[in-house]
Amino acid sequence: MINGLEDVVAAETVLSDVDGARGRLLLRGAWLDDLVATSRFEDVLTRLFEGFFPVEGDVTGQLGAARAEVFALLDATDATLLALPPIEAMRALLARLTDGDDLPTALRLVAAPAVFTAAVLRLKSGQTPIAPSPALGHAADILRMTSGTTLSDQQTAALDRYLVTVADHGLNASTFAARVVASTGAGLTSASLAALSALKGPLHGGAPGPVIDMLDAIGEPANATAWLSDALDRGDRLMGFGHRIYRVRDPRADALKTAVRLLANSRAIDPARLALAEAVEAAALDLLKRKKPDRPLNTNVEFYTALLLEALGFPPNAFTCVFAMGRMAGWLAHAREQVTTGRLIRPKSVYVGPIPEVA
Ligand code: CMC
Repeated sequence: MINGLEDVVAAETVLSDVDGARGRLLLRGAWLDDLVATSRFEDVLTRLFEGFFPVEGDVTGQLGAARAEVFALLDATDATLLALPPIEAMRALLARLTDGDDLPTALRLVAAPAVFTAAVLRLKSGQTPIAPSPALGHAADILRMTSGTTLSDQQTAALDRYLVTVADHGLNASTFAARVVASTGAGLTSASLAALSALKGPLHGGAPGPVIDMLDAIGEPANATAWLSDALDRGDRLMGFGHRIYRVRDPRADALKTAVRLLANSRAIDPARLALAEAVEAAALDLLKRKKPDRPLNTNVEFYTALLLEALGFPPNAFTCVFAMGRMAGWLAHAREQVTTGRLIRPKSVYVGPIPEVA
C-alpha cells in the first residue's frame, strides 16, 4: 500500500504535466512561464477545453453571458447561507446549478465561483451584489463585481496572471476528486463540488489565508527568524512552503512573485508588506534548509498568492474561493477527459480491522 498514493499513476492526461524534478509546469503543450506573460484566463480556458467541449468564437463574451445567467440564481440567497464562511456559502450556491456535461453547463460552472464569491462578500458586509458586465474580461469583471469600482489595468493583469497560474496542475487532490466523481457518470456540477471540497483543506488550497495570519503574527522583518524558528521547533508547518512534487522550485510561486513585483512597481501594494513577506520568505527558506535538511522545501504557490490577493482587496477567508475561480477550468477539462478516455475509478483497500471467529 502506498500511503497518500505518492508516485502512483492514476490517469493519462493531455492537460498538464507537473515536472517536479526540473520545477516546470506544462499546460497543454505550453510552459507556464511563457503562458503567464502572454495569455489571459480566457485563452487558457480555451486551451484546456479544446477537444473536451465545443469551444469556438468569442469565449470572453460567452463566459460573460454565463456570469449573467448565474447571477440570476442569487435570488435564493438567505441569511443562514450568508452566516457561512465564503467558501462554504459559495459551495452551497454552486450546488444549486443543474448537473450536465455540455459546454453551457461548463461555462456556468466557470462563472459561478466568480459571481457567487463577489456577491457573498458584498452581502456579508451589508452591500448589494453587483451584476456582471458580460462584455468585460473575466478578471476585470471579478474585480468590478467584488470592489464596486473598476480597478487599474495592472490590477486586472495581476488577477489574470493569477487565474492562468492556477488553472490546472496535474493530478492534485481536488482534480483527482473531480475525476473520481466524473468517472461515475455523475456530471460536471457534482465533479466540481467534490473538487471544491477537496481544495478547501489547508494542505491544498486553503493555505494562503494562514500565510496572512503568519505575516500578521510576525509583524516586522526583524521578528521573522525567531518566530519561524519557534514554529518549526513546535513541529508546526510553515504555510506557503513545501510541495509533494516540486523539488527545486514551484514555477507558480515564481509567476506570482513577478505579478506581485509588477503590482509594487505600479504602487498597488504596500511596500512595507512586500518587505515583510520577502524577509519572511528568506528566513523560512534558510531555516527549512537547516532544520529539515533531508527534504528540499521551497516557496509554493500559496505564499505569493496570499500577498497578491490581499493587494487586490480580497479578504483572506475568500482566497480559496479565488483559487477555485481559476482551477475550475482544469477540473472541468479533467472531468470530461476522464469520461471520454477513462473508466470507473475504483481502487482497493487492505482490511486491517478485526475478523470474527468463523463459527
Ligand atoms: N513546514 C515545515 N515542514 C514541512 C513543510 C512545511 N511547510 N512541508 C513539509 N515539511 C516536512 C514535514 O514536516 C516532513 O518532515 P518530517 O518527516 O520530519 O515530519 C517532511 O517535510 C515531509 O512532509 P510530508 O507531509 O510527507 O510531505 P507532503 O509531500 O505530503 O507535503 C505539503 C506537501 C504541501 C502538504 C506540505 O509541504 C505542507 O504541509 N506545506 C504547508 C501547507 C501548504 O503550503 N500547502 C499548500 C500546498 S501548494 C498548493 C497545491 O499545489 O495544492
